[in-house]
Amino acid sequence: MESLYGLNSLRTGIVQIDRDHEAILALVTAFYAAIHDKKDHPLIVDLCSKLVETTEEHFRQEEAYMERAGFPGLGEHKCEHDRLTEEARGFLMKIEHETPGADIGLYYVLRELFVAHILEYDKEFGVYYMQRAME
Ligand SMILES: [Fe+2]
Ligand SMILES: [Fe+2]
Repeated sequence: MESLYGLNSLRTGIVQIDRDHEAILALVTAFYAAIHDKKDHPLIVDLCSKLVETTEEHFRQEEAYMERAGFPGLGEHKCEHDRLTEEARGFLMKIEHETPGADIGLYYVLRELFVAHILEYDKEFGVYYMQRAME
């Protein structure tokens, strides 16, 4: 997943949003490496908590951008954020309780964020935002 940003295909064109996505992707990469290397459970829990909190904060920031820009797709976009947050929080709780397979579940939610959500939803907002900026 690390090389996805290099392709530029994930860029929204909004500097702060792209920076956030890169920061989240770096945390996802670290999380994946920690699972792969079978790191200690407390370290994985810490990493997951940071990842989920960073993602939630990003969602709030992104929604604030949409609100300020008067983006008509905000409601639907926010529903997607809420769904991803709920799923990620559910897996985080399972990871805290050492439920087998929960780490992979969280990884798949985050993967969806990058291979589906950003491409479909965030980039749509990026196009709208840039058009508004040029008006
Ligand atoms: Fe989003
Ligand atoms: Fe985003």
